[in-house]
Amino acid sequence: MLVSSSFGSRPILLAMLFLLVSCGQRRASTSETLIIGGQPTQAPAYFAALHQIGDQEPFCGGSLIAPHVVITAAHCVSPFRGDLAVWMGMTSVDSKPTPIQAQAIIRHPRYHNRKFQHDLALVFLESSLTTKTITLAGSDATQDRLRIYGYGNTSRDGFVYPTNIQTAEVQEIGTGQCKTLGGSYGTIIEEQICAGDMQKGATDSCDGDSGGPLVVGAQTQELYGLVSWGTGCGQAGRPGVYTRLAPYHDWIQETVDHMMQGDTPLDEFLAALFYGPLRYQDASGAERQFTASYQLWRKAASSVATAALATWEKTWQNGTVRLELHSRGPQRYEWRAFVRGEWYTAATHFSQ
Ligand code: ARG
Repeated sequence: MLVSSSFGSRPILLAMLFLLVSCGQRRASTSETLIIGGQPTQAPAYFAALHQIGDQEPFCGGSLIAPHVVITAAHCVSPFRGDLAVWMGMTSVDSKPTPIQAQAIIRHPRYHNRKFQHDLALVFLESSLTTKTITLAGSDATQDRLRIYGYGNTSRDGFVYPTNIQTAEVQEIGTGQCKTLGGSYGTIIEEQICAGDMQKGATDSCDGDSGGPLVVGAQTQELYGLVSWGTGCGQAGRPGVYTRLAPYHDWIQETVDHMMQGDTPLDEFLAALFYGPLRYQDASGAERQFTASYQLWRKAASSVATAALATWEKTWQNGTVRLELHSRGPQRYEWRAFVRGEWYTAATHFSQ
């Protein structure tokens, strides 16, 4: 859920503003404040409400696609914020289930944060769930009856977040036709789905619904897409844009298999585990923040002379992964990681 007062949701808001401003489009405003065509419903068991640990409201949606794995939008977890958790199958924010922590997060490697392409990420949960998962829909011809779920904004021209999860029906608009709408829609690719109500804008997803499910099927639902972006919400001729999942089935399967089998490439694995910002207070008392991405790791000697300035630990499949920050002179750092029984050192510096 994108609440203006919540720090955690600001990156999404900024990303949205950037998208709107950069494409010269402004959120049209209507005089009335309406629900964007939704109605309260019972949350599907597979629905995951993403939140920052300690927060009382979700900022994004997701779907459980394997007992340990929630799929969401990459922009929901990018830049990585604090430690994340999900509330599964939550129907109302007034009655929350026990949160389940996110243990590792992998974004699609081609995620493009300005065009919002390849906007998907996998969140690996700390505990296995018996909750029902949702199956991915096969690749299909254009679907015209699709359903969305989320805790996102229900107002076209303000911010009104619901207590109860909302659902609405949207219709798919062919990618070709969607591209001709111009502006930001000009960047639409086949891996995206445009859906909404072209005529009236009666139903749409909105801020805070991101990452949430776009499903097909009534009795048995299948996951067809993920809420990604839009220009304004619920405007005629301005459909919502979703990540189409069919083109990513192989990537999803392989990425999950590698994580479960323990053979994810090391740099990816460490970036996945230490997804949150790594905070460290230096000698002068200043707080430094590092991100464990884009590192190249190589084998290191098993012992070093210096004591670590800071250490971080994560567990993955009963093993402990340890990350250490060492000093290499003024303002110079060296990273060491103990993983899969060996010590590694980062060949480059962590991005700060
Ligand atoms: N980017 C938004 C989010 O982070 C989703 C916006 C969807 N907008 C739309 N008009 N369908 O929650």
